[in-house]
Amino acid sequence: MPVIEVNHLKKQFKSVRKQKGLKGAVKGLFRSEKKIVTAVDDISFSIERGEIVGYIGPNGAGKSTTVKMMSGILRPTSGEILVNGISPVKDRKAVVKHLGVVFGQRTQLYWDLRLGESFELLKRIYDVPDEVYKENMSMMNEILDLKSIIDTPVRQLSLGQRMRGDLAAAMLHSPDVLFLDEPTIGLDVDAKHAIRRFIKEINETRKTTIILTTHDLGDIQELCRRIIIINKGVVIEDGSLDELIDRIAPYRELVIDFYTEQHIEHPNAKIVSSEGSRTVYRFMKDEISAAALIEYIGGKAKIKDIHLEEASIDDIIRIAYGGSSEE
Ligand SMILES: Nc1ncnc2c1ncn2[C@@H]1O[C@H](COP(=O)(O)OP(=O)(O)OP(=O)(O)O)[C@@H](O)[C@H]1O
Ligand SMILES: [Mg+2]
Repeated sequence: MPVIEVNHLKKQFKSVRKQKGLKGAVKGLFRSEKKIVTAVDDISFSIERGEIVGYIGPNGAGKSTTVKMMSGILRPTSGEILVNGISPVKDRKAVVKHLGVVFGQRTQLYWDLRLGESFELLKRIYDVPDEVYKENMSMMNEILDLKSIIDTPVRQLSLGQRMRGDLAAAMLHSPDVLFLDEPTIGLDVDAKHAIRRFIKEINETRKTTIILTTHDLGDIQELCRRIIIINKGVVIEDGSLDELIDRIAPYRELVIDFYTEQHIEHPNAKIVSSEGSRTVYRFMKDEISAAALIEYIGGKAKIKDIHLEEASIDDIIRIAYGGSSEE
């Protein structure tokens, strides 16, 4: 049975745009303008236990809205969600027991308490048994290095420290599903690394199912075998990152510097440019290997230097989002 099932999920926000100034103040005399925003239009997917899924898409695509519905914070306009077979709409309390949620842009810690006191309070709120709490705290301490910050008031924590605290807080009740909405936003290289290590480790040791939303494609590359890309409230891709790369950019480019100007052709490689002693070849991965091409060319002329280029993940994702391919 999948851990998460989402079927034809939809969320519309109705907002009333009031008129500004005196006109707006005279209530009832002027009609306010009603606007409907469709944040999530029609989203379906299912996720198996132990997966780490990258849930990505451009700004305003509907990612956070989906996460909020899955965690029972928002009520869907229509559609169905099941987390561990339970609907967050019908039984939010039961779902929350299996769930940890972190919003990078917000904190669930208490500004006025020390980090450790925040954990204690959350322990009581979530009714976490002493043993479970102890075990989780010691594991979180190890992965997230909390010792140095445990006595610091939450309001004094740096963004990276606070994020470590938030991740630990989300794990206090041993959830088997974790929703992480931009957990690396605004973090430096070290802090990002710590968060990625945390995600890998809990997924490996506890088989925690993780849905990760991020704009940092390094996170995706390092952590997610599967990605779901959404745009304008609908799923536009759902599959493996490797498969997406192969589909969008099935070619590679080989840059060769010779000692002298050369013009060597190969039936499986197109010469993209040839300037001075440098020639750039483009070839399909499934037609010829880089090694075979290099060997062939090397047999015809002496090679000084080589360099292999693949489409960057940024390019792939930009194209998948609907951008144009740069030739
Ligand atoms: N409470 C709300 N009321 C009205 N519109 C909303 C509300 N929350 C979200 N929206 C709108 O729904 C759309 C999707 O928002 P959402 O926050 O889900 O996007 P996102 O994919 O998380 O984007 P980002 O990458 O910028 O975080 C946006 O157009 C947003 O303005
Ligand atoms: Mg968001």
